[in-house]
Amino acid sequence: MTVRIGLVGAGRIGGHHAGLLARHVPGAVPVAVADPRPGAAASVADSIGARAELDPHAVLEARDIDAVVITASSVAHAALIEAATAAGKHVFCEKPAGMSLAEIEQGRKAAAAAGVRLQVGFNRRFASDFAAAHDAIVAGDVGDVRLMRSLTRDPGEGLADPGAIPPWTIFTQTLIHDFDTLNWFNPGARAVDVVATADALIAPEFKESGLLDTAVVVIRYDNGAIATAEANFAAVYGYDVRGEVFGSRGMVTIGEGAQSSLRFHGARGRVATTSRSDTELLRAAYLGEFTEFVSAVEEGRAPTVGAEDAWAAFAIAEASIESCRTGERVAVAVPAPS
Ligand SMILES: NC(=O)c1ccc[n+]([C@@H]2O[C@H](COP(=O)([O-])OP(=O)(O)OC[C@H]3O[C@@H](n4cnc5c(N)ncnc54)[C@H](O)[C@@H]3O)[C@@H](O)[C@H]2O)c1
Repeated sequence: MTVRIGLVGAGRIGGHHAGLLARHVPGAVPVAVADPRPGAAASVADSIGARAELDPHAVLEARDIDAVVITASSVAHAALIEAATAAGKHVFCEKPAGMSLAEIEQGRKAAAAAGVRLQVGFNRRFASDFAAAHDAIVAGDVGDVRLMRSLTRDPGEGLADPGAIPPWTIFTQTLIHDFDTLNWFNPGARAVDVVATADALIAPEFKESGLLDTAVVVIRYDNGAIATAEANFAAVYGYDVRGEVFGSRGMVTIGEGAQSSLRFHGARGRVATTSRSDTELLRAAYLGEFTEFVSAVEEGRAPTVGAEDAWAAFAIAEASIESCRTGERVAVAVPAPS
């Protein structure tokens, strides 16, 4: 069986995902790409032999499409999920699945009512080292989880356009990955409260207009575990994603930052080459999440990461924002019974 896919959003990650879907994901057949930005859809569609549309609804409602991959700007996600599910399409949506808990819950309900699958783009769950760490935790190898750490450092020497970064992006777009990873690494436990602090250290002149480029969040879980999530937007050495879980029987660590096991040995010592982007470091993880999506659609089952996970991660983001605003410890929202 094949799954005919419409891609909505032809920006940086949409272009990357289109190539992956067209050439590397078994069973995926991308047939159309939509983006209202002139020329964007055409340039991605041409590269994979699909048709281009300016109007997203021409893809969301197309009869020759089984599933929609949403890679549009985050503010558009909730409305696109609603329209796609109403048209009976299965949905893969990049993170976050909405810009508020209410939007994410609305998307979950819409998918459930339409009887379609909804997967959210928490790609780290499909990185082999993160998945092996999760397996070890679930198997009890680490024992009782006591301390966890997850971090994201985006590559670059500075920020190309600091004024264009919407307020709270570091929590809703970047640390959302770390919040999901920490939740996933502490199975069965729920985040209870957070204390967050953040600043504009890369571009301090933009702090007044809401920029935060550096953040740390301390999260307490109901099984006693204490976690730290941290992020920064400018790591000069490349894209850096790491995790650590320390428990009563041992510890797992993920993320060496090296591109491969190759080391150059020379006069300055032993040097490792680092990955320079998310699509370079996590290419196999992106491939894994789309393979999972297509398999879930083909097999008629729920994907392994869904709207509940999106909600739980966003609940930590919302509490972190409130903690930053008030300087207080803030309770993490509890999901309503579904
Ligand atoms: N999981 C990951 O590792 C990862 C990495 C990068 C980006 N993302 C997510 O992917 C999304 C896109 O990020 P990006 O870096 O490609 O951004 P981008 O700004 O490069 O591209 C966004 C595109 O969406 C288009 N768009 C806006 N509204 C639309 C709508 N209603 N319908 C169709 N297209 C619309 C824009 O015209 C633009 O071309 C964001 O939600 C981001 O959080 C996830």
